[in-house]
Amino acid sequence: MEKIIVVAIDGPAGAGKSTVAKIVANRVDIEYVDSGAIYRAITKKMLDSNIKIEDYSKIEELLKDINISLLNGKIFINGEDLTPFLRTKEVTELVSPVSNNVAIRHKVNEFLNEYSKNKSIIMDGRDIGTVVFPNADFKIYLDASLEKRSQRRFLEKTTNMSLDDIAHSIKKRDDNDKNKSFGALKVASDAIYLDTTDLSVDEVVDNILKIIKYNGVKV
Ligand code: DC
Repeated sequence: MEKIIVVAIDGPAGAGKSTVAKIVANRVDIEYVDSGAIYRAITKKMLDSNIKIEDYSKIEELLKDINISLLNGKIFINGEDLTPFLRTKEVTELVSPVSNNVAIRHKVNEFLNEYSKNKSIIMDGRDIGTVVFPNADFKIYLDASLEKRSQRRFLEKTTNMSLDDIAHSIKKRDDNDKNKSFGALKVASDAIYLDTTDLSVDEVVDNILKIIKYNGVKV
């Protein structure tokens, strides 16, 4: 592919964003970037450094000291591979409130913009089409019922939480993510909204590929 394209995929937890974004990335031969992983890595770093959400000055100090890098699907902070810790219960519980911090959001957005310069990417998150790449070539908002999203997370078996606990935790994150003062989860006015509740992964992928192809990109 020659033309640089940016595909932004937003939506709540468990809507299938990362699963479909990885497949689309493969099919279109562009890089996939998981923006949530950056918030998770910073959360892990805060836990390791014993920095609390309300320690604003310590957070600012930490942000000055950290160097984020991505390599082969892994995420490093100051050279330390934090990938194995991103999905732990303690990180998952804390990441949404951590991502309310505006200084952290600026740091992540700066990194994402710099990292994606001059290359085609597909990125998923909460504010990719609204804040990070307001001029993205394609904006897709993936949604699904809370029940379906919880079931998907349960079946992934990446956590030992019960289905009820997962639903409770997702609902709490949704509420927080939708009510942030900056970078809140919302549907961009020019995004295509896809309800994936009754769609298979293949159907969602096909929908997205059609949107991209229809707009002249070779897939
Ligand atoms: O996609 P995820 O579940 O790994 O994201 C973890 C948290 O990070 C999510 O609850 C909200 C936050 N996040 C965000 O605020 N903005 C993004 N672009 C991506 C994630």
